[in-house]
This record gives sequence, C-alpha cells and structure tokens, in this order.
Amino acid sequence: MSLAEQIQTRPKPIREPLVRLVNVTRTFRVGNQEVHALRGVSLDVYQGQLVVIRGPSGSGKTTLVNIMGGLDQPTSGQAFYKGHDLSKLSDHALTDLRRREIGFVFQSFALIEVLTAYENVELPLRMVRMSASERARRIRECLEWVGLDKRAQHRAYELSGGEQQRVGIARALVNEPSLILADEPTGELNQETAQRVMELFRRIVREQNRTVCVVTHDPLVAEYADVTFEIVDGLLVGESDTHA
Ligand SMILES: Nc1ncnc2c1ncn2[C@@H]1O[C@H](COP(=O)(O)OP(=O)(O)OP(=O)(O)O)[C@@H](O)[C@H]1O
Ligand SMILES: [Mg+2]
Repeated sequence: MSLAEQIQTRPKPIREPLVRLVNVTRTFRVGNQEVHALRGVSLDVYQGQLVVIRGPSGSGKTTLVNIMGGLDQPTSGQAFYKGHDLSKLSDHALTDLRRREIGFVFQSFALIEVLTAYENVELPLRMVRMSASERARRIRECLEWVGLDKRAQHRAYELSGGEQQRVGIARALVNEPSLILADEPTGELNQETAQRVMELFRRIVREQNRTVCVVTHDPLVAEYADVTFEIVDGLLVGESDTHA
C-alpha cells in the first residue's frame, strides 16, 4: 500500500470531548422535599463548538452549566473536563481549573459599577502571577477584541447594556480559557444587541478555537449554534447538529 493510501485508510484520531457528562443527576433537598433538577443527562461538548442549551424555565439549564463549570457537583453520574473527573479533584485543584480554563458570562453582566471597563477586565488577573506589561497587553487585546478599546476608561455605569456585556465577555476571555459558559447572556439586551453579542461569540469560536456554551430561551440566539441541546424537566429531549 502506498503512503498516500495508508494515510487515507488510517482511522481518524478520536477526538476527546472538552466536557463529558455521563448520566448526571442533581437533586436538591428543600425541607423534606426533593427537587430533581437533572434526571440523567449525558452529553459531549467539543473544542471549537458554539453550543446552545435551550429549555423552559426550571428545566435545569443553570444547574447543568454549573456542573459543567465545576461550580456544582452531580448527585450521581460523572462530569469530566478534558478527561478529568471533576468529582475527584480537590477544592484547590477545582478552583485552579476554573480560574485557568473557564470564563463565565452572566445575564446581568456582573460588572463592578464604579470600576472602569479596563479594571473590570483586569479582575480575574489579580489572582494570577504575571508581569505588569503582560497583564496590560492582555487586557488591551481583549478590550480590542470586543470593540471597546476606546471605552477602556469608562466606568461600567457609563456604558450601554451591550457595551457592558462586551466588557463581561472581555473579562471572561482575559485568562485565555478553553471554555466560556454564558447563562442567558442576551436576556437583558434588545434583539440587535443580542445578535451582536452572538456574532462575537461566533468569532471567538471560529478565530480563537475556544468553546462557547450559551444557555438561552431565545430562538434567534439558537440560530448561531453549531450544536443545540434541548432540555425539558431535567432530561435532554433533543440534540441537533446544525452544520452536520
Ligand atoms: N439551589 C437550589 N435549591 C433548590 N432547588 C433548586 C436550586 N437550584 C435550582 N433548583 C431547582 O431546580 C430546578 C432547575 O433549576 P435551574 O435553575 O437549573 O433551571 P433553569 O432551566 O436555569 O431555569 P431558568 O430558565 O428560569 O433560569 C428548578 O425547579 C429549581 O427550582
Ligand atoms: Mg437559569
């Protein structure tokens, strides 16, 4: 067999998922009642995907992304990140992994109002050892990425909603994470601004090869997805691969 044939017939390398959930359940106890927020969810998320998680209010979306991001642990089942079982990591290792690997974007932006855009983006770097010049370079680069380099010295309250969310995205990017988790990031934005935020997420996926996972109610947002997971009452009821 020629080399070309050998290459052609060689099995494709098996891609390891960035996040893998295996039969994850999460039960909350409230008084003597049990709430089954997740009832056995299995899914894989790969590097370089824009993933959308959709479902009605109370269906378990926030619970799901909290487990993906190591903010919460399954009651049963397993959550893996780059092959590491999150339940087997110490608190310290888990905090470290979150800090280095995962960026979080919030519905209500979660900026510190009195700090400037620049200072808000700087916050996650305060806990990381890095030279002052590298720190400044990264902050500038991320603000530029979201198109806000000219707003660096504005305080958060001096920015529009869409601009505040772009600062939130720059802050999520500044640690150069592999995974960005965004729970209803467009929930407080008008349609046009929401579309701009989704276009930004798509560029982050395409140009930086990161993974973005967006929780949403909004059907328009779902149009940007590579993969969509539908969740109802703690169970996945559908997965669609938009570009398959
Ligand atoms: N800390 C908690 N303690 C008790 N019950 C909880 C807790 N967190 C979530 N739940 C319950 O688990 C279920 C799923 O909640 P979750 O927040 O994941 O839903 P969601 O899909 O994000 O909803 P929404 O779209 O309204 O944000 C709900 O019934 C909720 O009341
Ligand atoms: Mg929620």
